[in-house]
Amino acid sequence: MKTLTIDVRRAEPQDAAAISEAHRLSWQYAYAGLIPHKALSRMIERRREDWWRKAARGPATLLVADVAGTIAGYATLGLNRARALPQEGEIYELYLRPEYQGIGLGYTLFHEGRRLLKSLGCSGLVAWCLEDSANASHFFRSQGGSDVAEGMEDFDGVELKKIGFIWA
Ligand SMILES: CC(C)(COP(=O)(O)OP(=O)(O)OC[C@H]1O[C@@H](n2cnc3c(N)ncnc32)[C@H](O)[C@@H]1OP(=O)(O)O)[C@@H](O)C(=O)NCCC(=O)NCCS
Repeated sequence: MKTLTIDVRRAEPQDAAAISEAHRLSWQYAYAGLIPHKALSRMIERRREDWWRKAARGPATLLVADVAGTIAGYATLGLNRARALPQEGEIYELYLRPEYQGIGLGYTLFHEGRRLLKSLGCSGLVAWCLEDSANASHFFRSQGGSDVAEGMEDFDGVELKKIGFIWA
């Protein structure tokens, strides 16, 4: 029997190409048909390998889920940006390649991110997703998040609602 190793770890600069690919695939899968095509393509194009190489050096913490050498997804986290919310930490992004969704990796990345923020002294956590991203809002609810905030994001003139979830 083969054993698959699953490792959630901080990204290294040499992961940049693989994270860029995970970003492209997961964003296309999550947002095609939701975010206007041009705006989505622009957001994806902006984050090529170089962008991720710099991201791996901070200021946000960049975690990857490494499944037997394949970067299956990533999470970015750091200080909460929404001044109206008292929680100190935030998971900015949490994305998995489509073929790696639904097998517990989101759970593992989310909980490692939460643990890390706590260990850095952050009290409480915020995470945002688009209201129409059904699997993201379902996921945050299933992890015990309460939806307490909302906002709007403009994508080339198309306004989409986002929901803010909090954890104590
Ligand atoms: C949202 C997303 C990150 C969730 O990750 P995922 O790997 O698909 O989800 P998981 O397999 O970890 O979790 C699925 C379920 O199993 C549960 N679960 C998984 N592992 C578990 C474990 N070890 N113990 C207890 N529960 C577990 C989860 O709580 C969840 O519950 P549910 O059955 O009520 O849905 C992922 O689907 C994704 O990348 N989606 C697209 C991108 C996106 O929208 N990101 C969010 C915006 S930032």
